[in-house]
Amino acid sequence: MTVSKLQGSNVLLIGGTSGIGFEVAKKALAEGASIIISSSSEQKVLQASGKLKNGNPERSSAVRSFVADLSIRENLEGTIVSLLKYAAVSSPIDHIVFTAGNVPPMVSLSEASFDHVEAFLTVRFFGAMAVAKHMPKYMTSHKRSSFTMTTGTQIKKPSSWLPPAIGGAIEGLMKGLAVTLSPIRVNAVSPGFILTELLDRLPKEMVDGMVEKHSQQSLTKDIGYPEDTAEAYIYLMKDYFATGTTVATNGGAWLL
Ligand SMILES: NC(=O)c1ccc[n+]([C@@H]2O[C@H](COP(=O)([O-])OP(=O)(O)OC[C@H]3O[C@@H](n4cnc5c(N)ncnc54)[C@H](OP(=O)(O)O)[C@@H]3O)[C@@H](O)[C@H]2O)c1
Repeated sequence: MTVSKLQGSNVLLIGGTSGIGFEVAKKALAEGASIIISSSSEQKVLQASGKLKNGNPERSSAVRSFVADLSIRENLEGTIVSLLKYAAVSSPIDHIVFTAGNVPPMVSLSEASFDHVEAFLTVRFFGAMAVAKHMPKYMTSHKRSSFTMTTGTQIKKPSSWLPPAIGGAIEGLMKGLAVTLSPIRVNAVSPGFILTELLDRLPKEMVDGMVEKHSQQSLTKDIGYPEDTAEAYIYLMKDYFATGTTVATNGGAWLL
């Protein structure tokens, strides 16, 4: 029997309580990792860790959780340090997966303020930057260690003004970190339209319309599902030669 490279590893999932991050947590746990899931809502953290433990009763002690709200910029570094300390309490962290993403209301460029943009950047960019700044103390400096961030299709196929700016900033950060934190590997996943809890905030008719449009446009004639997208993160944890790169999982969106 082949033993997974994740067997016995310590994996921190920031944003691991729903959607893509939760599916990565499930897969990492199934492959023998110990996991720590984290996000801002205490209720979501409790529910998600309960689900993971109930689904794997024999491995329930391998599931830990931590509430960390990355939207409060003044406390951001302190929050990240507390999270990293917790995650590394009994062994160094092997992999960090960052899928945390808040969704402030979208506004048109003519109505946008710097504060509006900062609300996105705080969680997604400064949050990831703070992780990168502090994580070397809590990880082994080796090619087996990794940090995987999340961008999106809009970095190459913009349909509005802000998502490509945020995604582009994250992708640039990822490349700079891969050089700066070497030999720790730093990568990104760029998901297309994936059916997750992120869409629960939108009216059902709107989501139905988006699902239809994205299925028709996709080369796979379907939208994306978090259990498939999660494979990209698992791959990036395991390929010890992959660094400074982005894995796209988007039904061929960049060809269309
Ligand atoms: N789904 C897509 O189609 C798609 C496409 C391209 C890119 N993405 C990106 O992929 C990432 C994951 O998306 P998803 O679809 O899996 O969304 P999701 O199901 O909403 O998951 C987002 C995660 O981020 C956490 N989060 C939100 N605000 C946070 C905060 N202030 N501090 C810490 N954690 C926070 C959420 O938990 P709490 O609410 O408890 O904080 C949740 O665990 C996001 O960055 C998203 O923009 C998604």
